[in-house]
Amino acid sequence: MQRLVRKAVFPVAGLGTRTLPATKAIPKEMLPVVDKPLIQYAVEEAAAAGIEQFIFVTGRNKTALEDHFDHAFELEHTLEQRGKTDALNDLTHALHKEGRIVYTRQQRPMGLGHAVWCARDIVGDEPFAVLLPDELLLSEPPCLKQLVDVHQETGGSVISTMEVPREQTSRYGIIDAGGASGSVVEVQGFVEKPDPAVAPSTAAAIGRYVLVPEVFAELSKGRTGAGGEIQLTDAMANLIGRRPFHAQQFDGQRFDCGNKLGYLEAILVYAAQRPDLRDGWLDIVRRHADAHFSKD
Ligand code: G1P
Repeated sequence: MQRLVRKAVFPVAGLGTRTLPATKAIPKEMLPVVDKPLIQYAVEEAAAAGIEQFIFVTGRNKTALEDHFDHAFELEHTLEQRGKTDALNDLTHALHKEGRIVYTRQQRPMGLGHAVWCARDIVGDEPFAVLLPDELLLSEPPCLKQLVDVHQETGGSVISTMEVPREQTSRYGIIDAGGASGSVVEVQGFVEKPDPAVAPSTAAAIGRYVLVPEVFAELSKGRTGAGGEIQLTDAMANLIGRRPFHAQQFDGQRFDCGNKLGYLEAILVYAAQRPDLRDGWLDIVRRHADAHFSKD
């Protein structure tokens, strides 16, 4: 039996330049999909995988994230007085026990690897998860739970991957896949944003990781990689051969909400899945599809 994965790191210090102007004054992780911000989906996915401590690596202008996971006394009081119990329950349900959410700051934008490294003292010497909240993943069981289950068997690093078109490999971390057992493949190499001509495959990392604590020693070396940033991909690649490393092929729907079309698609699908909105939403979508998108 491996050690439990109890802690998750959420790198949320990014500037959200791809979603401007919406994210000028609010963090991109606070963008709502239907009626919940992206960060809440990621925290719920982590909780469903058994995570007990949620570590946010934030930056400047991110206080809305902290407020979202705190009591809003005046609001809760007003909802209670007006008998709006459902809305009140939704709000308080999203809160976690005091001390279970921890914040630290990445003071300089030095890359994903650096953001994760900022959480090293809070994580300590145990396996942990990393979730990138602008990747919204819809599957049953939820993506991180599947990775945690693989980690329980292998004791090593585990990431989730999806096939992407070859011309897009330079946007992702790409694995060099070895032997497979069902949907789990051994990772023999991991390259950050390779040119399509040299990418070892078209299986891309999609923002969910279970990492072994040894990754911090690699990140501490402070070596820069693609884009002049300290890359998580490079630190993980350096552990290949020393610790097991597997990728699980994601079987579900993925929405890259850091990209405007991906974000719109997420809203379309999540609204269609909501029993309270579904019928009205489908009417709207059909009406506008006819009016605005018909080919003639
Ligand atoms: C990061 C990772 C990359 C991964 C991607 C998934 O890149 O560095 O390996 O494939 O997230 O979204 P970013 O999108 O932050 O440039």
